[in-house]
Amino acid sequence: MELAPTGHWVGDDICVSFESWTRQRKIVSIGTNAGAEPLPFQGWHHFKEAFAPEVVARAVRESERPVTRCLDPFGGSGTTALACQFLGVAPTTIEVNPYLADLIEAKLTAYDADDLVADLGRIVRAVGTLRADMSRFAHMPVTFIESSATERWIYDRAVARRIAIHLEAIECLARPHHRRLFKILLGGMLIAVSNVVVNGKGRRYRKGWMNRRTAPAKVDALFRQRCQSAITEIHAHRHRRHRGHTLLRGDCLQQLDQVDAADLAVFSPPYPNSFDYTDVYNVELWMLGYLDGSASNQSLRHATLCSHVQIKREFKPAPAGSLRLTRALNRLRRERDALWSSWIPDMVGHYFYDMHQLLTKLSRTLSTQGEVWAVVGDSRYAGVQIPVARVLADYAPALGFCVKSITPFRSMRVSAQQGGQQQLDESLIVLQKLD
Ligand SMILES: C[S@@+](CC[C@H](N)C(=O)[O-])C[C@H]1O[C@@H](n2cnc3c(N)ncnc32)[C@H](O)[C@@H]1O
Repeated sequence: MELAPTGHWVGDDICVSFESWTRQRKIVSIGTNAGAEPLPFQGWHHFKEAFAPEVVARAVRESERPVTRCLDPFGGSGTTALACQFLGVAPTTIEVNPYLADLIEAKLTAYDADDLVADLGRIVRAVGTLRADMSRFAHMPVTFIESSATERWIYDRAVARRIAIHLEAIECLARPHHRRLFKILLGGMLIAVSNVVVNGKGRRYRKGWMNRRTAPAKVDALFRQRCQSAITEIHAHRHRRHRGHTLLRGDCLQQLDQVDAADLAVFSPPYPNSFDYTDVYNVELWMLGYLDGSASNQSLRHATLCSHVQIKREFKPAPAGSLRLTRALNRLRRERDALWSSWIPDMVGHYFYDMHQLLTKLSRTLSTQGEVWAVVGDSRYAGVQIPVARVLADYAPALGFCVKSITPFRSMRVSAQQGGQQQLDESLIVLQKLD
């Protein structure tokens, strides 16, 4: 037997290598959304904020310490963990959003493709006979499902009925990991069959949505097509150099205490740009039953890193140690009246309180010479720049790290909410744990 150039033998199986998964593509940037969409698994849910898996491969390759365990405290779409499985590294991932946590776990789990095909057949047969129980949507915000109580709605009633029937059919499956996978595959198409689009600026109705309704049959056709393509991907990539994973659900600042040790941490935290991930995944969270009322929505928002002003929190002050942050916060406070939310200076201060805590916990978790590879983004409010990578570098020495490099690699546009089109840096910062 010959070893394929991009594969590795494990027992009698040839493993899919990282390079086969990424098809040795050329990428222009390792930053967010660097064309990862066409990669197998990464299309299950369009995740704009995902970084390129190549950043994980580089981190593993360039780490001075051999990497057997890698940690991502902000799992998102699971890029780090999935890349680790192909690289032969044991991944530990933390994610606060329960829909995204399920998305990650669905990608990392091992399946038997024949069993999946059989269960897909069961779902398809069941949706032909089941009746929709619309009471599952009763607790949701009134604008979600067409009704006489509202003038605009995200789902036409007939479409919502097809979604409900699919959920019921999925819930009848015996295997919990199959239920999770099919629910996630349904989740990834929910926006496509809705009357809205979601982007970095939030959710808005499609142009002329009233006259361009989604045919209910599209739910059935799209679901079947997405499942068939996902099963093909799963089967083609079933042999990975590392097959296990650890997924912790909840706030990483709490969950990190459960992580014993790691040789490397590769992650991208939310940026302090007032973008709340809970909003971005609101449709999936409600429609798939992850939220059961406004209280659960609020508690999820509270558990996320302090990077937005959508909820009032008890804002904690930024830890001392960065003169450039103190100066930026003073300027922000002076500009408070010109800001679109007077909470912004406090939010930015608390953002660094959280990031300081994160680095403190990572310093305890990482082995000596273990590295942190973090993709971070700057923000700007009322002309005041928040240089995130530089501030983290200021904190690093007191927390037991040396700064190996800071590489700006892309410029982001300032959001419309932040009032302009100026460019902002996104950077890769690499820290190394000292003895
Ligand atoms: C920029 S995204 C990560 C993207 C990821 N690198 C990828 O490639 O898919 C940040 C993620 O952090 C999650 N998050 C926010 N606050 C968190 C917290 N306190 N603990 C764990 N995850 C959190 C968000 O839900 C979001 O999925």
